[in-house]
Amino acid sequence: MLLAVEEHRPALEGSLVRLRAFEPADFSGLNALINEPGVSQGLGLAMPQPVEGFKAFVDAATKEPKSVIFVIERLEDREPVGGCSLFDIETPARTSTLGIWLGQPYWDSGLGTDAVRTLCRFGFRHMNLQRIELNVFETNPRARRAYEKVGFVLEGTLRRAEFVRGKHVDSFVMGLLAEELVEEEA
Ligand SMILES: CC(C)(COP(=O)(O)OP(=O)(O)OC[C@H]1O[C@@H](n2cnc3c(N)ncnc32)[C@H](O)[C@@H]1OP(=O)(O)O)[C@@H](O)C(=O)NCCC(=O)NCCS
Repeated sequence: MLLAVEEHRPALEGSLVRLRAFEPADFSGLNALINEPGVSQGLGLAMPQPVEGFKAFVDAATKEPKSVIFVIERLEDREPVGGCSLFDIETPARTSTLGIWLGQPYWDSGLGTDAVRTLCRFGFRHMNLQRIELNVFETNPRARRAYEKVGFVLEGTLRRAEFVRGKHVDSFVMGLLAEELVEEEA
């Protein structure tokens, strides 16, 4: 049953979200969401950025052959809710690093887990990656839990590697191999 669903699912679609390219109309709303402190702290962004800075970042990632970057769109109403990317794509190792964020109003509804799962599925099946890794701060248990639900495992701790809200904090390295991706229940 799960196999049948998977065979017919578009490559960039999950059960709650769809990943798609950035369009000009996305930048203003998404920049306001990423600049909220709850979001930017999880990403290690110390300063708010103007919309032009956000657009320049997305444009650079779009042109960079070692990256793919997407808007996360909620399936039920086509609302743009965040962004995600795979960057530092390395050949021949076939590895990459994952980044993700959602606007705070959209947290805790399973959207982040579905977006991570969809992005990893795309990376393994359509980009021929065999390993995806990420960094998550010790101050971010919500993100760590979302990654664990998709199958990421803790591989190491970078002690006091980040500075978040006036404190030096550890950063966890997590990794996922292609055969470890946890699909949702059918
Ligand atoms: C990290 C992020 C993408 C997760 O997305 P999300 O949609 O909120 O995550 P989900 O709802 O899919 O899953 C969150 C899980 O964490 C759990 N959780 C929430 N708060 C928690 C806490 N304080 N401690 C432990 N678990 C927590 C939720 O209960 C849920 O687990 P469950 O399904 O087993 O109940 C999103 O919160 C976000 O964008 N945060 C800001 C940016 C960021 O930190 N990005 C990641 C950088 S590494």
